Amino acid sequence: MINLIEISNLNKKFNLSNDQGLSLFDNLNLSIANNSITSIVGPSGCGKSTLLNILGLLDSKFDGQYMFEGKIINNMNNNQLSRIRNQKIGFIHQFFHLISELSVLENVILPGLINRNKISIITKEACKLLDDFGILAKKNMKPNKLSGGEQQRVASARSLINKPDLILADEMTGNLDEDTSDDIINFFIKFVKNHNISLLFVTHNQKYAEMANFKYELKNKKLILK
Ligand SMILES: Nc1ncnc2c1ncn2[C@@H]1O[C@H](COP(=O)(O)OP(=O)(O)OP(=O)(O)O)[C@@H](O)[C@H]1O
Ligand SMILES: [Mg+2]
Repeated sequence: MINLIEISNLNKKFNLSNDQGLSLFDNLNLSIANNSITSIVGPSGCGKSTLLNILGLLDSKFDGQYMFEGKIINNMNNNQLSRIRNQKIGFIHQFFHLISELSVLENVILPGLINRNKISIITKEACKLLDDFGILAKKNMKPNKLSGGEQQRVASARSLINKPDLILADEMTGNLDEDTSDDIINFFIKFVKNHNISLLFVTHNQKYAEMANFKYELKNKKLILK
């Protein structure tokens, strides 16, 4: 059985102005199985968002090999990467990245339109997801009129619209109160199990980290399986 993701010997360097450079990972390896739930914890600045950007094909400047569904992505061109990203990966960014000119509903349906789904069907599914996340009443508002937690829920709905194979969530409950956070985590776990989706999430919340099948800590530039 091929894993959904196989990363081997990953290194990532940022060039800093003092020409010292910053190296975040030390030959890091990571496998993500199909239909699995993975959590990553680690201190601020250790490279969690950077790792998610690499996994989500948003950053291709790294050393090491990355295989997605058995295919090496290192040498793929931008079109190939975009197609995989749109069809197979749902991303909840730490700072949401909603498009401010579009309404809540339009933000959620956009990835479905790029994926060439019928607008009537995708709109219905988007409304269902917005309802699941308790935010349907705000579907015609612009994201900058929403609270941080509400924007987070819109980003969550958007990540699920194409029923991806993988969801990457960077602090998906970071801006929410405990009850809402619990609801969202439980909803995600049920949703990914029902749709055979793998979920990888970064969290600072130990209780949520424990809910995963595979629990990692990013520490000293390595991923440690707990
Ligand atoms: N484009 C960039 N250029 C230079 N340095 C960067 C860049 N992006 C991230 N870094 C640095 O890489 C380190 C890791 O950043 P990253 O955002 O991945 O941390 P994180 O683990 O997600 O932290 P947090 O828990 O605060 O979100 C930080 O020191 C950051 O300053
Ligand atoms: Mg981060």
